[in-house]
Amino acid sequence: MKILITGANGNLGRRLMKDFSHEHEVVGVDIDRLDITDREAVHRFTPQINPDAIINAAAFTAVDKCEEEVDLAYAVNAVAVRNLCEAANNAGARFVHYSTDFVFDGERMEGGYREFDPVNPLSIYGKSKYAGEVEATRHCPNSIILRVAWLYGPGGWNFSDWVAEQTTQGNEIRIVTDQFGCPTWVGDVSAQTQSLLEAGASGIYHSVNTGSCSRYDWALEAARIAGGDVNKIKPITSEEFPQKAPRPKYSVLDNFYLKTQRLERMRPWQEALQAHLTDS
Ligand SMILES: NC(=O)c1ccc[n+]([C@@H]2O[C@H](COP(=O)([O-])OP(=O)(O)OC[C@H]3O[C@@H](n4cnc5c(N)ncnc54)[C@H](OP(=O)(O)O)[C@@H]3O)[C@@H](O)[C@H]2O)c1
Repeated sequence: MKILITGANGNLGRRLMKDFSHEHEVVGVDIDRLDITDREAVHRFTPQINPDAIINAAAFTAVDKCEEEVDLAYAVNAVAVRNLCEAANNAGARFVHYSTDFVFDGERMEGGYREFDPVNPLSIYGKSKYAGEVEATRHCPNSIILRVAWLYGPGGWNFSDWVAEQTTQGNEIRIVTDQFGCPTWVGDVSAQTQSLLEAGASGIYHSVNTGSCSRYDWALEAARIAGGDVNKIKPITSEEFPQKAPRPKYSVLDNFYLKTQRLERMRPWQEALQAHLTDS
């Protein structure tokens, strides 16, 4: 297949580029080559590639900044999704998109959110990402939308590596104990994307590493694997760590559709974290 990957320099995009290039012809672009909010540029560029699939890993992901740059958040996370859907339709290409656990409000506090549970995003980021889901579903009805969460991977800043680095250097860090979610490794999201495309799947899929934890427990596990000093991790509450955008306190996802359709490739979050911190 010929695959166009947008957001190719991002955390997930870099991994998709690496993995998909083993078996496919891959063209990766980021904002310097193709600004996906520029509808005309998207329509001019895509026919030059003539892709069989467009995978959109581009997004405005700075959650707090989205509160200040609201129009830009909706331009990148929603309007641009329509631009890419139109281009995919014109090329006869599949469309793959990524969304977030932040479409939920986190009031649930037990079990995991399933794909059909009602959304209620708290932040501009979450609202704009949900608007992007609506665009993808409406304009490319056979698109694949993977809702992922708490992503980390090699290169660039990520929470797991930062905790490992700080605790092995003996620096004290303060981590919230009252936010719960699913740490998810980009390599597993990439493998899951590939298998969904191969299976001819469509629709929304919760695609997170299995199990869940608090951000504090995630930090403890990262420090333990990296051989850092776990005593340097000080538990705090969200009230002690104010952030501009509201975060859901409990955004655990259940990969219900993946499991039920027997398409699941995701493994427990501790295994993925171990592999990331010891292999890369
Ligand atoms: N990171 C997480 O914890 C997390 C959690 C849940 C869901 N997700 C979703 O997973 C997907 C991948 O996230 P990620 O962490 O890999 O994001 P990322 O590292 O921020 O990468 C996004 C990429 O998109 C680029 N981009 C931004 N605006 C663009 C535009 N107008 N045109 C073209 N490219 C543009 C960014 O460039 P610049 O860096 O120059 O802006 C960046 O290279 C996103 O859909 C995100 O919403 C992420």
